[in-house]
Amino acid sequence: MSGPDEKPAVGRRGFIKEAAAGVVGGCCLLVPAAAGLVAWLDPLSRSAGGGAMVKVGRLDGLPADGTPQRVSVVMGRQDAWTREGAVPVGAIYLRRTGDRVVQALHSVCPHAGCFVDYQTARGQFFCPCHDSSFAVDGSINDPHSPSPRGMDTLEVELRGDEVWVRFQNFRTGIEGKVPVA
Ligand code: FES
Repeated sequence: MSGPDEKPAVGRRGFIKEAAAGVVGGCCLLVPAAAGLVAWLDPLSRSAGGGAMVKVGRLDGLPADGTPQRVSVVMGRQDAWTREGAVPVGAIYLRRTGDRVVQALHSVCPHAGCFVDYQTARGQFFCPCHDSSFAVDGSINDPHSPSPRGMDTLEVELRGDEVWVRFQNFRTGIEGKVPVA
């Protein structure tokens, strides 16, 4: 036999159940949304093509005479669901051109994507795939070079004595410097 107070008690229980289900459902939606937001806000979470700033060395590690130094670019990679430890994503050349001025050049040849070597004895960059040569500042050396443009420069930022570079890849085989998305 039910008393006069039973109905409101069931109503309260029902309300609490629905509210709890709403909170749980909201959490289920919020967690992936928050993970996506974190991944979007974290510069290191973007792909190499996205142009993340990455620390690549120290100013005092670069020769004062401007000789280019090849440096590996190592970055952590993350998306909304997974996080990888630091992995090599490419290589660049760093060259000190002033007391606190550094030039960064991508090591990938703009012609067809081979790696460019620096020839210390000749003071130039050379791509062994189709014999493109570049001056020490990355500009095209040979007017008959198969490369459609000079080596790709990258943005450099000095944070104290740390050298940071906005690392990104560019399309090859075209005259314009177009970032790879
Ligand atoms: S890939 Fe470098 S010259 Fe062709």
